Amino acid sequence: MSAATLLQSSISDLQLIKRGKVRDVYSVADDHLLIVVTDRISAFDCILPTPIERKGHVLTALSKFWFEKLGGIVPNHLVTTDIDQMPEAIRRQADKLAGRSMLVRKAEVFPVECVVRGYLVGSGWKDYQRSGEVCGHRLPEGLRESDELSTPLFTPSTKAEEGHDENISEAQTVALLGEEVTAFLRETSLRLYREAREYARSRNIIIADTKFEFGRDQSGQIILVDEALTPDSSRFWPLEGYTPGKSQPSFDKQFVRDYLEQLDWDKRPPAPAIPPEVAAATTARYLEAHRLLTGSEL
Ligand SMILES: Nc1ncnc2c1ncn2[C@@H]1O[C@H](COP(=O)(O)OP(=O)(O)OP(=O)(O)O)[C@@H](O)[C@H]1O
Ligand SMILES: [Mg+2]
Repeated sequence: MSAATLLQSSISDLQLIKRGKVRDVYSVADDHLLIVVTDRISAFDCILPTPIERKGHVLTALSKFWFEKLGGIVPNHLVTTDIDQMPEAIRRQADKLAGRSMLVRKAEVFPVECVVRGYLVGSGWKDYQRSGEVCGHRLPEGLRESDELSTPLFTPSTKAEEGHDENISEAQTVALLGEEVTAFLRETSLRLYREAREYARSRNIIIADTKFEFGRDQSGQIILVDEALTPDSSRFWPLEGYTPGKSQPSFDKQFVRDYLEQLDWDKRPPAPAIPPEVAAATTARYLEAHRLLTGSEL
């Protein structure tokens, strides 16, 4: 394993709040969090034992890019990604943590994932085939897999502690958050998605769908939290070769999935390691996504 990769962080002076599939989250003072993006990768909902070099850096840089680009639509939690501006406990591990760490304002996160779908794919495609609807939105007949929707849909889901998030109706969302907050999250999520999608398309990437999280900061203001428009929170497709009527290649994980599909593995943990050339090809895809979207090399 290259010394530059990180599968798991450990910061002795900070309290670890949670390890997600990819990110480790620490408490910093009372009102901040440190989000460390490791090089872990998941496929078929399992974390692989093989790190993807540069992945943590790419995801961090992309979130920062979008937070800055979309900051005019809604404020967000980002304080800094510059390790020199972070507390000593973090700076001590600059070799491991620089470039993959985000200091953010802690928020009270709403218990709803704000999913926006611009294309007919995944569970939306399955829903549509069964019922002609996607999460309660009736769609025209005759749509194909991966077709663009005439208007993007806001399809919130609950944040499941275990297993898959569950789609909820607008009425259920209102029951959780109230009318006013629901309307604000819907309009804001759709605006963020539209603006990001239009920009990405000009850079030859389709953002087929994405997921946002929001919370209230200490003053009660609603802010965008978590990660934003990364390949982990979104489906990115290369614009070149986009062909509706079938599933599209995943920008980032296609090599990993293709490799795992041809193994005799039941897709339950523990996941097998992937060979170095598959990992390297995956790193190249992450770097390419970053280069295409931001116009600069990481
Ligand atoms: N500014 C913030 N204030 C408070 N909590 C936040 C903030 N930003 C992100 N979070 C929370 O931090 C957690 C990050 O966890 P993470 O997304 O890595 O794991 P997960 O959601 O359990 O699993 P997965 O890896 O499937 O996403 C989420 O619960 C998210 O809601
Ligand atoms: Mg999450």
